[in-house]
Amino acid sequence: MHITVCLSQQKPDPWQQGLQAALPEADVRIWQPGAPAADHAVVWSPPQAFFDEQTQLKAVFNTGAGVDALLAARIAPGTRIVRLDDAGMSVQMAEYVCHAVIRHFREFDAYEADVKAGRWSYRKPRLRTDFPVGVMGLGVLGERVARALTVFDFPVHGWSRTAKAIEGVVCHSGEDRLDGFLSQCRVLVNLLPLTPQTENILNRRTLGLLRPEGYLINVARGAHLVEDDLLVLLDSGHLAGATLDVFRTEPLPAGHGFWNHPKITVTPHTSARTLREESIAQIVRKIRAVERGEPIAGEVDRQRGY
Ligand code: NAP
Ligand code: GLV
Repeated sequence: MHITVCLSQQKPDPWQQGLQAALPEADVRIWQPGAPAADHAVVWSPPQAFFDEQTQLKAVFNTGAGVDALLAARIAPGTRIVRLDDAGMSVQMAEYVCHAVIRHFREFDAYEADVKAGRWSYRKPRLRTDFPVGVMGLGVLGERVARALTVFDFPVHGWSRTAKAIEGVVCHSGEDRLDGFLSQCRVLVNLLPLTPQTENILNRRTLGLLRPEGYLINVARGAHLVEDDLLVLLDSGHLAGATLDVFRTEPLPAGHGFWNHPKITVTPHTSARTLREESIAQIVRKIRAVERGEPIAGEVDRQRGY
């Protein structure tokens, strides 16, 4: 079995070494133009030249959860596309989102500013019932996040394409339920995949449906958000703030209006990082399952886009 590794944003050597150690029966190599045909590939944003050469792959394993960049490539129709299925990401995402929600709800930024100014001040406790949180996307990450938020007794709503039942979460599904879902939420967390259906889904109209003094947490993809619409809603006061981990252009360009906006917290696409060891273990299990002809989780439906 021949496995090729082609990673644009991670150092390929530790991946090659880790895969080789876990799959001693295979020949694992870092891809170079003109390399021999492989059975499986482990990739992140490979160049089109990679797929133009590697047309016989049984499966291509993405070293992230989101496959929007990968699906933009022309990949041989017979190649299965497989994404990371949690691999240690959901707990990181739950930490990040709960931190952002609680920081906003408990006004920790205001307390920090008071302390820096030498002020011992109290704020009126806010009611959790006034802070319903909505999670868009109830997949591997969204479900874990929604469940984690229920632990803090926030009212939690979720929205997905197909119907779900999650204890403690009011689940909504389908395009026709989007507006009803949004109008019940004050804090909105985006964990949708980026597809033609979800691009620009966070815009003036949809964010305008949130309860007054709404708050946005975007941890999915930058292209979900119409950036100027967010600025308009923050300026008007309809939105109280936003925590953004993902951007249309990454790294966020110098001078971009989000960098120093007083109501926006920026993090550098770090809410749920790929953990190499866990990811290699998962990919190895899946390669073995594919070789045995067994079903695997996280297989991407090209038509659906995720
Ligand atoms: P997933 O398991 O595929 O879940 C996607 C969810 O979105 C599913 O519940 C799906 O509904 C729902 N959905 C898809 N299209 C929809 C539509 N048109 N309308 C309503 N709901 C729709 O994906 P995941 O593993 O949770 O990851 C989600 C995304 O997070 C990734 O695609 C990636 O972009 C992002 N991400 C970001 C980071 C970061 O560090 N910032 C890290 C990892 C992932 P169904 O369940 O009904 O199919
Ligand atoms: C990160 O953004 C991922 O999709 O894994």
